[in-house]
Amino acid sequence: MTALLAQGTSYDVEAVRADFPVLTRVIGGRPLVYLDNASSSHKPRQVLDAERAFVEQHYSNVHRGVHTLSQEATDAYEAARTTVASFLGAADPHEVVFTKNATEAYNLVAYSFGNARAGSRFALGPGDEVCVTEMEHHSNLVPWQMLCERTGATLRWIPLTDEGRLDLSELETLVNERTKVLAFVHVSNILGTANPVETLVARAREVGAFVLVDGAQSAPHQVVDVQALGADFFVATGHKMLAPSGIGVLWGRRELLDAMPPFLGGGSMIEVVQMGGSTYAPAPERFEAGTPVISQAVALAAACDYLREVGLDRITAHEQVLTARLLEGLRDLDGVSVIGPDSLHSRGSAVSFAVEGVHPHDVGQSLDELGIAVRVGHHCAAPVCRRYGVPATTRASSYLYNTEGEIDALLEGIRTVQRFWS
Ligand code: ALA
Repeated sequence: MTALLAQGTSYDVEAVRADFPVLTRVIGGRPLVYLDNASSSHKPRQVLDAERAFVEQHYSNVHRGVHTLSQEATDAYEAARTTVASFLGAADPHEVVFTKNATEAYNLVAYSFGNARAGSRFALGPGDEVCVTEMEHHSNLVPWQMLCERTGATLRWIPLTDEGRLDLSELETLVNERTKVLAFVHVSNILGTANPVETLVARAREVGAFVLVDGAQSAPHQVVDVQALGADFFVATGHKMLAPSGIGVLWGRRELLDAMPPFLGGGSMIEVVQMGGSTYAPAPERFEAGTPVISQAVALAAACDYLREVGLDRITAHEQVLTARLLEGLRDLDGVSVIGPDSLHSRGSAVSFAVEGVHPHDVGQSLDELGIAVRVGHHCAAPVCRRYGVPATTRASSYLYNTEGEIDALLEGIRTVQRFWS
């Protein structure tokens, strides 16, 4: 990335691309155009090298041994926690729990609350409410549905406007004194919408609800400061931010994490174990039962370092250029409609669209023949598709290594698809 750094504040996308081995792939006789980053991102050499070096020279189990490798591995694992905490603006590394993915992090909170004894501030029961939004990914919806089923609480949701934003006109009714949890997505994986965190957190605070923000699609693309967001929990996932799969992050206020009941039981999460019962370690160990995701955590820290070196603000600005070009190009195409905000205002880089008369799966297949990778389907947000009356969408999602030329290739690809299917 020397060239990038030499450029000072300008963004040298070719220098970034040179760090990603997969971008040299040729698919269907054409250079790969990878626009499926909201699903999973690729990994730079720096991350691959960091994980490999750790596994080759320092790997062992953590928090268990007295031998040298065990101590080195433990140090690397805890250093990774410190890096991730700093990347997210956390006050304290103990507020960062490593999970296997984002889905486990939402479930961790929901199951922990579900395990709380009656009378605890975390316990829910009939009469209590959980509020989500209609644009949630299934992973930040189904765990809350299941919690409500287990406890008798009621699930409510903030509906969507035709433009793909939250309809906040009934916010005061939907988030009320019965609301125990408000869980919402920071940036939607399907619509691209960036939600008004401040407004939502302020309302939750008025009624004393816990707030969880799903940052799976924000942390990879923009500066996140969990303290400034003001929520109680924030979730991110490694594989969408240049790290391997198998690593997620739950950030939570330390005072809450230390008081919440455990989710998974087992080794490492305990203090004293007797046959009649056990006591539990404070956070984060309390929520990291069993052998944790060791080398993945080290790789995630390397990914955070890489993103910071490139500069999150510069990545956001670069993606905005790409997103503006894509939205403008789609607007100029007859028979193509964007599902979600069609301006840059408060939105991320995931853009869903429909091509009239062509099923999204056919769009995706035809684009693949041109070397262009997009995602088609309901994007694990089926209620959103239902809301907009489509079975599925085609979604293009750019990231730090995409180019304006690739956006043009996608637009040309859609024209080819239209000609082929007409
Ligand atoms: N959540 C991922 C997506 O949006 C898998 O595609």
